[in-house]
Amino acid sequence: MVRRMREEDIPDVVRISEENFSTEAWGEAAFRRELTSPHSHPFVAVVNQKVVGYVVVWILYDEGTIMTLAVDRSMWGKGVGKELMRFLLKFLRGKVKKVLLDVRKSNVRAIRLYQRFGFRIVGERPGYYSDGENALLMEYLYTEEVSHEGQALSS
Ligand SMILES: CC(C)(COP(=O)(O)OP(=O)(O)OC[C@H]1O[C@@H](n2cnc3c(N)ncnc32)[C@H](O)[C@@H]1OP(=O)(O)O)[C@@H](O)C(=O)NCCC(=O)NCCS
Repeated sequence: MVRRMREEDIPDVVRISEENFSTEAWGEAAFRRELTSPHSHPFVAVVNQKVVGYVVVWILYDEGTIMTLAVDRSMWGKGVGKELMRFLLKFLRGKVKKVLLDVRKSNVRAIRLYQRFGFRIVGERPGYYSDGENALLMEYLYTEEVSHEGQALSS
């Protein structure tokens, strides 16, 4: 199940962030800000009443931007990432025209997840991350949804 993030989820969310990211991990203050920011929409995935993943999306004008997304490492490969993405694309439908995100070029796992839902690589940002790695800019267009809907949203 995916639901909106609440204050009491923050310790779990921070732990998941820290175990998945080094320099890009978000701390307690950052997640707390998202809970009250008008353009931010933070969600958690819950399995057996435990928070096992999260995603934060910003809506600015007609664009959604996935700011951060992660799944508890012990739960990788069990479909939680897919559940978060399916929820998010449904949530954003009708609110934005496109969804953007940055991902490390080496993050094959995340790139495949996004591609599976119809995101395409539309750019590359050299040295985007603090260790010098490039980011790939990926985009999902709702106008192209029809061609992806079968695989992405109903599976
Ligand atoms: C990327 C991440 C969110 C995926 O979550 P997950 O719950 O493991 O993903 P799922 O089990 O739903 O699998 C979704 C898809 O990921 C891809 N995937 C899963 N396991 C994979 C593997 N071992 N190798 C490559 N791709 C894999 C597949 O495309 C899979 O879909 P499929 O099973 O239909 O082929 C998770 O690995 C994670 O938290 N990574 C660290 C944080 C991160 O990189 N966040 C994204 C930053 S932009």
